Amino acid sequence: MEEKKPLIVINFKTYAQATGSAAEKLAKISEQVSKMENIQIIVVPQPTDIYRIAKSVSIPVYAQHIDPVVYGSNTGSILPEAVYDAGAKGTLINHSERRLSLDVIEKTIKKAKELKLVTICCAADLEQAKSVAQFNPDYVAVEPPELIGGDISISTAQPGLIKDAVRKVKSASMTTKLLVGAGVKTKEDIDIAMKLGAEGVLLASGITKAKDQKRAIQGLIIDADKMPEEKK
Ligand code: G3P
Repeated sequence: MEEKKPLIVINFKTYAQATGSAAEKLAKISEQVSKMENIQIIVVPQPTDIYRIAKSVSIPVYAQHIDPVVYGSNTGSILPEAVYDAGAKGTLINHSERRLSLDVIEKTIKKAKELKLVTICCAADLEQAKSVAQFNPDYVAVEPPELIGGDISISTAQPGLIKDAVRKVKSASMTTKLLVGAGVKTKEDIDIAMKLGAEGVLLASGITKAKDQKRAIQGLIIDADKMPEEKK
């Protein structure tokens, strides 16, 4: 039986290397690797870059956050209809860097579902994973905050958390799938996560800050001995 392929979600955050024209370039590289390796890659740029990126690539573009507001007087909010209209196919919510209350999470997931935006709801730990899974987002992404942006991945530091999160999410929702993230940078990190029952990974700095972003994405998918020669 062929192994299940991981879903790879690249969060551009507010990295300079993934903002504006650099964001568009990174999205195009992601699209190239996605097509070449036949693997699903989702890019998650800042709201201001969604439109230009959605116009220039065919892989899915998600928002980093939306607010559960309606058309009208909500200065500074991110209107779900607006990101949908700009070309987003889904959204992250409740990222560690943009935490929401449970009440707001529930409302936001409901709103996203009405628009058919795919939802990836982040969670810092098992308890939160279970609480948010009851609202049936498409994915819960478990990311231990202390590992975010670091060199040690969730897969090496806390494999038990991945295993437990698969179980917790399953017990709370029939449909929600699990992504994991924090410190993910290698194919080995992804292989461990997949073996433990995750559907894929959510990552950022391993790609955005890489000297060669294309090679960094390829390195998530291709075995080290099969990687193309490095350009000198
Ligand atoms: O959203 C992904 C993120 O929080 C993980 O970041 O830099 O550890 O891959 P990073």
